[in-house]
Amino acid sequence: MSNRTFTMIKPDAMKNGHAGAILDRIIKEGYRIVALKQTKLSAEKAGEFYAVHAARPFYGELVEFMSSGIIIAAILEKENAVASFRTLIGATDPAKADEGTIRKLYATSLGENAVHGSDSDENAEIEGNFFFSGLEKF
Ligand code: CMP
Repeated sequence: MSNRTFTMIKPDAMKNGHAGAILDRIIKEGYRIVALKQTKLSAEKAGEFYAVHAARPFYGELVEFMSSGIIIAAILEKENAVASFRTLIGATDPAKADEGTIRKLYATSLGENAVHGSDSDENAEIEGNFFFSGLEKF
């Protein structure tokens, strides 16, 4: 069990003006921000980030969407961070997400689901290192 996870506020939530509310919720839920940046993925970089899904039918759509606009990337710290953050954001499909979760409140659809949360400690480390150097983590 690690105490860090990685998240992105995706282009749909950024365009719909939910970034402030999502960051406020994350902080109020007790996560410490280890690293944070606003950035935009090229299609190549989005494809690299989601390479694990390359064989899935939705991969092209996912890469196009994730490179369609500005995102916020962050590393978060809290006890049992990966599992607790996945509970906070809710199911991948917002239609199936519990009431009060970030995706239930702010996501548009299965593909445009407002936020990403790492699915394992190992991936949290890999994903955080994809966006941040050692000098950017505090
Ligand atoms: P995320 O948690 O960022 O990890 C992979 C993403 O792929 C997921 O959120 C969804 O946004 C997206 N995704 C998963 N399943 C589908 C699907 N069936 N159709 C479109 N996008 C999907």
